[in-house]
Formats: sequence, C-alpha cells, structure tokens
Amino acid sequence: MNQRLFSAVAPSGIIHLGNYLGAIKQWVELQNDYDCVFSIADYHAMTIFQPPQEFREKILEMAAIYLAAGIDPKKSIIFIQSNISAHAELTWILNTLVKVSELERMTQFKDKAKRFSQNINMGLFDYPVLMAADILLYKTKVVPVGEDQKQHLELCRTLAQRFNKVYGQTFIIPKTIIRKEGARIMGLDDPAKKMSKSAVNPYNYITLTDSSDLIKEKIKKAVTDSGKEIIFNLKEKPALSNLLTIYSLLSNKPIKEIVKNYQGKGYSQFKTDLAEVIINFLKPFQERFENFNKDQNYLKKVLNEGAQKAREIAEKTLEEVKEKIGLI
Ligand code: TYM
Repeated sequence: MNQRLFSAVAPSGIIHLGNYLGAIKQWVELQNDYDCVFSIADYHAMTIFQPPQEFREKILEMAAIYLAAGIDPKKSIIFIQSNISAHAELTWILNTLVKVSELERMTQFKDKAKRFSQNINMGLFDYPVLMAADILLYKTKVVPVGEDQKQHLELCRTLAQRFNKVYGQTFIIPKTIIRKEGARIMGLDDPAKKMSKSAVNPYNYITLTDSSDLIKEKIKKAVTDSGKEIIFNLKEKPALSNLLTIYSLLSNKPIKEIVKNYQGKGYSQFKTDLAEVIINFLKPFQERFENFNKDQNYLKKVLNEGAQKAREIAEKTLEEVKEKIGLI
C-alpha cells in the first residue's frame, strides 16, 4: 500500500485556472505514487450561500471536472464530503481542541469576513477545522494544495498533534505539498491579488469552461507591466510573470525557453500566443467535461462507489477517535 494523499476543491462558484494549476494538475500527476482520496467539499462551499438548484449542478460538475482533468476512479477515490457524516462529527470533536484565537488568526477568514461582511457565519470561521477533519479522517500523509491553504494545513497539523498529546497517538501529522510554480496564480486584472472564485470582476480569472472567444478577450484585457520586454521578474513584472507561469504550465515548456522565444517580440504577440496555449489545453478538456457532465448516472455511480470506499476508512478512524476520548 502506498501512502495516503487527500485533497479537495469546494464547488462554490466557478473553477478557474488557479484551481487547476495550483491543485488538480498535480493531483493527476501524483495519482500513481499515492493512494489518493479526492473530495468535493460541498460543506465548505456552503459558507457562502449557494442557491440549491445551482448547488446541485455545481457539485456534479465538480465531479465531471475531476474526471475530465484525468482523475481516474479506478485508481483514486472521488466522493462528496457531505455523503460521509464522519466529517461533521470529527469537526465537532476537533472544535473542542481548537482555540478561538487560532481561528481568528486565519488570513482567509479575515479576508472573507471583510468581503462578505453581511454573512460572517460560524461556518466561515470554523472552515479550517472542517478541513482538518477531512484530512485527518483518512490518516493522510500528504496534502497537495495551492499556497492559500498553507495556513489551514498548519492548523491541521497543530490539531493532530494536540489530539495525539491529549488522547494518545491517533492521527498522522500530514505534510503539505505546495509546488513552486503555479501555487499562487494571480488575478488577470490585478497581479497583487490571487485569482479567485469569488472575484467580482470576471476578468480576474479564466474558468475551465470559458469559450475560446472569451479567453482571447480576457487575455487581451489582462493587465501587463510597463516596458515591452518579455522577461520573468516577479518584483518588476508581476503581471507578465504570472502570464508566463500560466503559459509554461499549460504548454509544459520551461519559462526560460519561452522567454528566449519571445526575445524582440512584444506583449501583443505573446498574449495572442498565450490565448492559443490556453485554448489548446482547454478545448479537449471541455469536450471531456461535457461528455462526463451529460452522463449524470455515471457521475453518481462514481461518487457512490467513492463514498462507500471513503466511508469505510473514515468510520474506522472516527471509531478509534471516539474510543480514545472515552465516548461510549
Ligand atoms: P478551494 O476550492 O478554494 O481551492 C481549491 C484548490 O485550488 C487552490 N487554489 C489556487 N492555486 C493557485 N492559485 C490560485 N489562485 C488558487 N486559488 C485556489 C487552493 O489552494 C486549493 O488547493 N477548503 C478548500 C478545499 C478543501 C481542502 C480540504 C483542501 C476542503 N477540505 C482538505 C485540502 C485538504 C478550498 O475551499 O479550496
């Protein structure tokens, strides 16, 4: 048996290139080296109101995205978080170990509380504890995520250590895998902010389902830095460096080689080609996505089978946890 890997995406709003390049792309690559469990974190998505009918669609679309990206249900477990009640139960247990001050320090909570000031709900605050429960239930060794989840993962490790100290060795302390490139894809409209599902401006992101025309338009409008030269320099040319990162990851060409190819050429040529690179990647992806998304019976079958396998692991851990605590 290989070591276990766990990760998830919340099916809230759109799924963008940042989610793909920061997380899903590496999941596909790691599938052969680990026993992988990939969740659709619907409880996490609920921390921002989701209209029920759209929510149902988004949850199944998420499964179609995983499959279209190359997650293979024969190799990996794919399941919906809310299908397994152990996630909510372990969250409660971990809630008795986490300190309010620890959750108050979470930068994502602080950001979201500012942006969604009309709905600072308890779920938004408790979100990292639910994440810790997700991970710890599967005795996870590694968690591949984008940079923005780093702090949540540190809290997960703290909670696992705390539980082990109080009740005896139970949880594995998970390691975070954050790739150097693509871990923080920035907004196309503002290279100082990450590409974000909840961005108000649709020109912030490219979704995995954007049409070719829209991609061309979005890349054309993408903010660039002063000067003309195509160079990679995060400090002086943050916008261009972000575009170069996207180009490199989707074309599998090293940044150095791309920079060399564009010597003497300007931003306009580079942007036209970048749009092509994105379209060339997304077109076949979108065809696969449409096919999976049309076949709702197949999606439900994959998710049911995934839930059965995941439940077995999660319930075993929860039993052990309850026994250690002294619950009857
Ligand atoms: P979510 O749905 O916000 O993001 C999913 C994954 O995408 C990464 N990501 C990015 N990577 C690079 N550049 C960006 N601009 C960018 N934006 C997002 C995220 O880091 C993440 O890896 N709570 C989590 C889902 C979750 C989870 C878990 C993850 C639930 N339980 C357990 C790991 C382990 C979330 O909402 O991610």
